[in-house]
Amino acid sequence: MNILVTGGAGFIGSNFILHIMKKNPDYKVVCLDCLTYAADINSLSQVINNPAFKFIKADIRDKAAVEKIFSEYKPDSVINFAAETHVDRSITDSSVFVDTNIKGVQILLEACRRYSTKRFHQISTDEVYGGVDSKSTDIVFNEKSPLNPSNPYAATKAAADLLTLSFSKTYGLPVIISRCCNNYGPRQHSEKLIPLVISNAVQNKKIPVYGTGENIRNWIYVKDHCEALEMIINKGKTGEIYNIGSRNELKNTDTVKSVLDILQKPYSLIEYTKDRPSHDEKYPLDFSKTENEIGFTPATSFATGIRKTVEWYLNNKDFSKNKKYRTD
Ligand SMILES: NC(=O)c1ccc[n+]([C@@H]2O[C@H](COP(=O)([O-])OP(=O)(O)OC[C@H]3O[C@@H](n4cnc5c(N)ncnc54)[C@H](O)[C@@H]3O)[C@@H](O)[C@H]2O)c1
Repeated sequence: MNILVTGGAGFIGSNFILHIMKKNPDYKVVCLDCLTYAADINSLSQVINNPAFKFIKADIRDKAAVEKIFSEYKPDSVINFAAETHVDRSITDSSVFVDTNIKGVQILLEACRRYSTKRFHQISTDEVYGGVDSKSTDIVFNEKSPLNPSNPYAATKAAADLLTLSFSKTYGLPVIISRCCNNYGPRQHSEKLIPLVISNAVQNKKIPVYGTGENIRNWIYVKDHCEALEMIINKGKTGEIYNIGSRNELKNTDTVKSVLDILQKPYSLIEYTKDRPSHDEKYPLDFSKTENEIGFTPATSFATGIRKTVEWYLNNKDFSKNKKYRTD
């Protein structure tokens, strides 16, 4: 199998490349990434010299560059992680989100169409469904739920999902979409909640938490997400959408406290800040289709995953160095 992984120098993409290459030494993997602030090429150091791996610095918004890569490598499958991913940034300026998350996807889809790629897998998010009240118990999002994004990031991801599905319906392009809940684990940029908490706590710096910290998120260990993706690649049906979830629902305050407990730091480091506009309270995700049809169940409990994650950041202090924090 010859796979093109876009956005592979980012958090989930790099974990996916390391996972898939370890489990499938016969795969050839090409990683296309333009190395935005969110990327770290060192995340791929374990494979960078592997002859079965090739890194190409390129932008999915650059049609000619994408065309050249397809023409040279003729990938059997494309799995698209490339995206602008930070909700706060999308609220400040949505332009690059529209360009990368929609236009970039359109360029990839067109290339897949021209080169008759056997599979285009769009990595999407549970945020496309929008949020519900944190006390609500009767609404659960399955793959047929309406898209109702609450912020520009989620709106661009929803647009990309619709565009992807339209290429399946209009041109018969073999596509799959997976929509995952919040990931945590090694190699995540320190502007995101869990690495930010670890980094600030270690330095005894205040930890900003939006609003009252009551917002609920479902956390999946990134390795479990990668496992689910591999299973979907092997068993998923063309034209289908698969939700990927976990059963680790936590209030943001409790997520932060779990890290502080591991690091033996006081809860007084938590500083509640003005809430984000249109901040989704929770995303109740039904992933029974993926469990029943693909056979995926997340293996890592939050207690285990968060301990491994904290250990990884403590052992890889250089990773967070020189990165910009939300509190800067
Ligand atoms: N992190 C999560 O919790 C989460 C949850 C569900 C879905 N997702 C989705 O998973 C995917 C990966 O998320 P992540 O957290 O790893 O993101 P990330 O921000 O860590 O990495 C994104 C990567 O994409 C690259 N990239 C951005 N724009 C590009 C462009 N124009 N051309 C080429 N490369 C470009 C960046 O350089 C970076 O390496 C995204 O599509 C995101 O929407 C993330």
